[in-house]
Amino acid sequence: MHTTLGGKPKSEARPKFPVESLRTQFPALKHAAPFIFFDNAAGAQIPQIVFDAINRHLLECNVQRGGRYPQSIEVDATIDRGRRSVADLLGARDPSEVAFGMNATSFIRLVSLAIGQSLGARNEIIVSEMDHEANIATWMALESFGAKFHLWKMRDDGNLHSEDLWPLLSAKTRLVACTVTSNALGSIVDVPAVAKFAHDAGAELFLDCVHYGPHGLIDVQAWGCDYLACSGYKIFAPHMGFMWGKRALLEKLPTFREDFIPNEPPGKIEAGTFVYENVAGMTAAIEYLELVGKQLSSNGGSSSRRANLITAMAAIRGYEEELSIEVLEALEKSGATIYGIRPKERVGERVPTFCFNLPRVSPQVVTEEMARAGIGIRDGHMYAPRLMKRLSLSMDSGAVRASLVHYNTSEEIQRFSDVLQKLSKNG
Ligand code: ALA
Repeated sequence: MHTTLGGKPKSEARPKFPVESLRTQFPALKHAAPFIFFDNAAGAQIPQIVFDAINRHLLECNVQRGGRYPQSIEVDATIDRGRRSVADLLGARDPSEVAFGMNATSFIRLVSLAIGQSLGARNEIIVSEMDHEANIATWMALESFGAKFHLWKMRDDGNLHSEDLWPLLSAKTRLVACTVTSNALGSIVDVPAVAKFAHDAGAELFLDCVHYGPHGLIDVQAWGCDYLACSGYKIFAPHMGFMWGKRALLEKLPTFREDFIPNEPPGKIEAGTFVYENVAGMTAAIEYLELVGKQLSSNGGSSSRRANLITAMAAIRGYEEELSIEVLEALEKSGATIYGIRPKERVGERVPTFCFNLPRVSPQVVTEEMARAGIGIRDGHMYAPRLMKRLSLSMDSGAVRASLVHYNTSEEIQRFSDVLQKLSKNG
């Protein structure tokens, strides 16, 4: 089992993470203070440079692309910059492999519909029990195209294991669809091992990278996946999504397009107009991460955006592991049932997203009490009905989820812990 998707420096070499200075770059944190944002899995806050990029776009070039006048030419340049930035974020070979759109779900649906039309003898699809429903139901909707399904089960440790995937694969498997990281439990899947097994069987791998996005380095080439969908609004950008696919596969994908749109990526994956100001915002969010990398480099950073992103994401992973240990301690102290990876020595296999229940206190009461104390967390089914069933939780009440990112602090965890202890005493 891997522990370091994207890698991280040895702890003794790690400089102190500059959380306080980074927090000052997020206006919403100050605006809402002392409110605590622990619902980042549903969408994170954005740094000032993202606000500025969106405003600048709306002021200076809020027009349709493809015209011959300066503002429209600038929109084309904005989209081009966005593709190159996202390609660096993903470790992609070619920016034309990156498509922009609304959200990950609509991209998964787009690819699933295309794959549904080209199933042939390879008509089996493997989905996982741990995934967001967006990466399950979109594939299961292909039943009417003749697709058959296998469910890859989660183990009791709260993660998917590639060894359990192997027996489900065969010469009939067309595709494995799985998450990089559970949006409910925070468990990180060993996706390079999944890609190897899938490819050994001649199948393709579609990754839902939405939840992993803000927490660690994405590397589509090292992971060996075939398609990957992600959302900007979890990675410090506004509401938008993007998708990556291997160029040769995207070229073959039968997608809907008007006749005047060339049958080539990325245009064939981007039917209609998407939100250009949000692409400008996504580029700025990647610039923010790049600046984090530069700030943390002893030599002021590299001239390579990817190298700076590698530094930034390694530091974020390291800091978030420290946060994870603190949250696990707070939950254990309150007697909570934690659904997901619990041992502190295994924090490298998770991100700081925690799904739990307190004894004798309903998830709804926990989140209401937290809200009264100025802490935003979430209760419910986490869009994962199969996972709820696996955990013997009802779809109606589900569980509580607290999800942290790199701008959260130990002091915030202490306040969260105080409310938890009070609730568990009175429960
Ligand atoms: N998929 C998002 C979540 O897990 C909305 O909260």
